[in-house]
Amino acid sequence: MLKVGFVGWRGMVGSVLMQRMQEEGDFNGVEPIFFTTSQVGQPGPDLGVDVPPLKDAYAIDELKALDVIVTCQGGDYTKKVYGDLRGGGWKGYWIDAASTLRMDDEATIILDPVNRGVIDAQLAKGAKTFVGGNCTVSLMLMGLGGLFEADLVEWMTSMTYQAASGSGAKHMRELLTQMGQLRDSVAPELADPASAILDIDRKVTAAMRGGDFAVDNFGAPLAGSLLPWIDSKLESGQSREEWKGGVETNKILGRMDNPVPIDGLCVRIGAMRSHSQAFTIKLKKDVPLDEIEERIAQHNQWVSVIPNDKEATIAGLTPAAATGTLNVPVGRLRKLAMGGEYLSAFSVGDQLLWGAAEPLKRMLKILRE
Ligand code: HSE
Repeated sequence: MLKVGFVGWRGMVGSVLMQRMQEEGDFNGVEPIFFTTSQVGQPGPDLGVDVPPLKDAYAIDELKALDVIVTCQGGDYTKKVYGDLRGGGWKGYWIDAASTLRMDDEATIILDPVNRGVIDAQLAKGAKTFVGGNCTVSLMLMGLGGLFEADLVEWMTSMTYQAASGSGAKHMRELLTQMGQLRDSVAPELADPASAILDIDRKVTAAMRGGDFAVDNFGAPLAGSLLPWIDSKLESGQSREEWKGGVETNKILGRMDNPVPIDGLCVRIGAMRSHSQAFTIKLKKDVPLDEIEERIAQHNQWVSVIPNDKEATIAGLTPAAATGTLNVPVGRLRKLAMGGEYLSAFSVGDQLLWGAAEPLKRMLKILRE
């Protein structure tokens, strides 16, 4: 039985991973061992299987005894531990949610409904390091995988509408606090149908700009606003999040030597945990729309095509509809005014499921096949 160590299982992504593994009985057939950075010796989680007390996540000798380590602990932990483990001769499988190792040659980015062939080829070569992709990239490929599989994409832009969860749990709380502060700033006016909307707007704007507004985590108002920058700036002028769209997609698809140009703007909006993206896709040829829809819909069991009409779109192509599910709806599919080779699309997906925990969970299953 594989000895599997879990690190960072209590955080947001880790908790979603634990929940999904329990839902699908994935703890049966492995020997799970839970690690902690702060509570060594305390009882392990109650997951319906026997687990030993929590072990020290920095104890290299304990980690070396494992066949597999699954970490959602974050990039700093990976930086601290991974080099020592591998340097010390550990040959086990490292499955990681953090971006630290993603672009390293020894790491494979995992999204098996899209790149199972790449994963299998890497396993056959003896690869041992498997890393989940950036959430917008994974969600884009789960939605548009059918177009890439048919090699129809000449280039693509992705304009994102990213949820607060991508920044972390504290940011989700801050978004809600901001929403509450805005509402509270005009509570009497909202209760009075005769109050003037421009007065409400003035007060809300004043609250948003006021010194009491909760911005410790985002650094600026998000509720009632948006933030068109995610992560650090690169020399290219891209944000790191925008850069990942191109490099990670091509690495996942195993085509770094023949990359599809992908670029765009990444924007944080006031959604809780589902990322949305608007795409402009330059196709290699003028493919009929019904063929495009069919290729998208048939690529995997989680993607669905939402008809390009208003009712279906606002019912099914929103964070409110997709959150908490593995569904990846893709809609607004139509040819753009620029010509038959120019396609628009819009996708939504839960950032914590396909965008983070699910590819890790599935990689652990692949190792058990
Ligand atoms: N970097 C993503 C975001 C989340 O900020 O939304 C994780 O991939």
